[in-house]
Amino acid sequence: MTDLPVLDPAVGYVEEEIDPFLDLFEEIERLKREKNAVLLAHYYQEPDIQDIADYIGDSLGLSRKAAETDADIIVFAGVHFMAETAKILNPGKKVLLPDLNAGCSLADACPADAFAAFKARYPGHVVVSYINCSAATKALSDIICTSSNAEHIIRQIPEDQPILFAPDRNLGRFLMKRTGRDMVLWDGVCIVHETFSEQKLVRLKMRYPGAPVLAHPECEEAVLRHADFVGSTSQIRRFAREDAHDTFIVATEEGILHQMRKDSPEKTFIPAPPESGCNCNQCPHMRLNTLEKLYLCLKHEQPEITMDEKLRRRALRPIERMLEMSAAVA
Ligand code: 13P
Ligand code: SF4
Repeated sequence: MTDLPVLDPAVGYVEEEIDPFLDLFEEIERLKREKNAVLLAHYYQEPDIQDIADYIGDSLGLSRKAAETDADIIVFAGVHFMAETAKILNPGKKVLLPDLNAGCSLADACPADAFAAFKARYPGHVVVSYINCSAATKALSDIICTSSNAEHIIRQIPEDQPILFAPDRNLGRFLMKRTGRDMVLWDGVCIVHETFSEQKLVRLKMRYPGAPVLAHPECEEAVLRHADFVGSTSQIRRFAREDAHDTFIVATEEGILHQMRKDSPEKTFIPAPPESGCNCNQCPHMRLNTLEKLYLCLKHEQPEITMDEKLRRRALRPIERMLEMSAAVA
């Protein structure tokens, strides 16, 4: 390892000039080999990062990969709660995140102290938390879930057991509708998925009649009601690969389109339109990671995710429960 530069937590990544002639793809591959590092990336990362990743997946797939890797270093190209989950599962490994400030509006919307007070109002409730939350909020939960296993997990909870679900109210409402279960919901939303416009989606459907709408369950109910398929990023990708239609409208962060187009170059994928003409269907947190920051993070092994051991153990239990309860989910 080179001499450690000082990492300014307010900046969140190592600031260092990079030779513009350096082939970053080659350098990242070399550093991965030399350091026995594995690069896990979420679908919402920029295409260059997806292309150099050892594994790309949804939150469940990434957690499983993090749990089983024998690499010494995990570089997590995703957001903070994902890298934190990898650290919770791998206390002995070094877990790096290219930009420490890559957060998540859902995780930020559910601070542990406020959540503890909320939970205290509902004694006797089993607490199921979406993985998009901090380690401290996970530690207050009984079971963690992701968008790909949430329904499967909720269905395993006895009918007479009241449930508190946090932090995504849209996923919570979707699950209530799907399972017929009543749940107490924490009122959080994803700033990216709440941006899709129902009106514009309806107009797009008229322009492309027959094109299935594939949506992530973090979308608002008004958007989900027009969806032909609702699932996690990996499930959306799989659906598009296996379905016979040639055109699809996709209501989730647009990074996923990169893999969908690679899987099926003959098919057309149209991103669902946001309310304004902005790029708000790109997650500003996920997109803080860049190829340059990824290179510097591997080179200097910073920023690193660290965690208090007592907190880690408390946050581990509900994650292990999730992995056990959803072993059958593909
Ligand atoms: P999945 O990839 O698990 O569907 O989650 C999407 C997401 O919100 C990641 O932040
Ligand atoms: Fe969080 Fe939404 Fe970004 Fe996912 S897309 S990381 S839920 S803000």
